[in-house]
Amino acid sequence: MPPKPVRIAQISDLHIKQPGKLAYGRVDTARALERCVTALNEFLPQPDLVVISGDLADTPKPEEYDHLKRLLTPLKRPFVGIPGNHDAREMMRAAFPDAGYAFSSGPLNQKLETDGLDLLLLDSSVAGEPYGELDAPTLRWLDTMLASSPDRPALLFLHHPPFITGIWHMDRQNLRNAGDLASIVRRHPRVQLIATGHVHRATLTMFAGVPTTICPAPNHAVDLDLEQLRPPSFRVEHPAFHLHSWFPGEGFGNLVTHQVPIGDFDGPRPFFGPDGKLL
Ligand SMILES: [Fe+2]
Repeated sequence: MPPKPVRIAQISDLHIKQPGKLAYGRVDTARALERCVTALNEFLPQPDLVVISGDLADTPKPEEYDHLKRLLTPLKRPFVGIPGNHDAREMMRAAFPDAGYAFSSGPLNQKLETDGLDLLLLDSSVAGEPYGELDAPTLRWLDTMLASSPDRPALLFLHHPPFITGIWHMDRQNLRNAGDLASIVRRHPRVQLIATGHVHRATLTMFAGVPTTICPAPNHAVDLDLEQLRPPSFRVEHPAFHLHSWFPGEGFGNLVTHQVPIGDFDGPRPFFGPDGKLL
């Protein structure tokens, strides 16, 4: 039997507020997460793990993390979270005390090992700032972790994209020290994907020779304004999550990312009739 694939669902930028409050006075982020959890629970085959790539809360407040945990209770699969700029490290540490954080204080980095695959979750949050940065202990930790088992493929998750998207007001608050991350990634060919969030819209580029993505959000998207045509704005577009499937194989195997829309759609319907002919 061929080795089993590993499937990681990524959801991002949940922006959960206290019950009854809307993000920016308009977006019901709690309802959006409920729909996302339903979609994750109904998806077959079930993912091995769900990674939440930052901005779990919105303000943040302990009550928002309490609300988040209640909304995630129906999720059937295990999940892990990393902080974004709308999170606070110590509130997250208090909300999820059982997570396997690499350090007992400071950045909430985590290493997770699944069948044949390593996940490295990096805390790029900077207290009180919208932009991201990987601090010196995190960079050292990442380099050490990547050096520790060079034959295993690894996926990196962090909130802030280390690249320019063309959306001007988001590019001012991306990962500031992307060069430090790039120099580490280039030393370790086992990195197969860098998966981020923060911009609420599916985006793909190459960074340091590695496919690098932004995950769409279950709620609202940052307006795709590539020419400073409007003030910083959001749109409620189609919600979605990312499903990263890793297929074991020669070398580091094969990593494929699918975007999965959240919602009720017609289908699935068969292509072929009972006679085996294309309908
Ligand atoms: Fe963010």
